[in-house]
Amino acid sequence: MPRRPRGPQARLAALLRAAADARKRAYAPYSRFQVGAAVLAGGRIFAAGNLENSSYPLSVCAERNAVAMAVAAGERHIEAAAIVAGDARPAPPCGGCRQVLAEFAGPEAPVVYASTNGRSVTTNVAALLPDSFSPGDLSRSPVSGKGKRRSRGGIPV
Ligand code: THU
Repeated sequence: MPRRPRGPQARLAALLRAAADARKRAYAPYSRFQVGAAVLAGGRIFAAGNLENSSYPLSVCAERNAVAMAVAAGERHIEAAAIVAGDARPAPPCGGCRQVLAEFAGPEAPVVYASTNGRSVTTNVAALLPDSFSPGDLSRSPVSGKGKRRSRGGIPV
């Protein structure tokens, strides 16, 4: 018998439904590119769409809005994320949103992104953003890390 997925994997279908639903409420009159995102945190699903502004650079991606909702509700750990965007190729999360997801999700946290025609890609945070800058890097910096020096490939920096 095929094994049933457990943990966050078991919630991916529900996350995708929440993301698809949030996408319909996205405010994207300028790009006309609607995105929906949902994150699983503390067993609950937080979903949001992208939110654009007539001052274009102020627009906020769906993923970042969903993360903000989870954090505003008191959550600090994201277990999985789903994104719905694009009508043919599933649109992957942008670089900035990968960084924001990595702030609150572990490297193995599943991320699924899907197009509106039902195609989907399932991956995880580490695959989307390898060797990411993370909160731990700040405490290892020379200024706040009590003078410790960091080196890469033997080159002192
Ligand atoms: N967008 C997202 O919501 N998430 C992404 O990961 C990529 C882009 C939004 C931003 C903007 O409102 C629209 O898609 C077009 O770039």
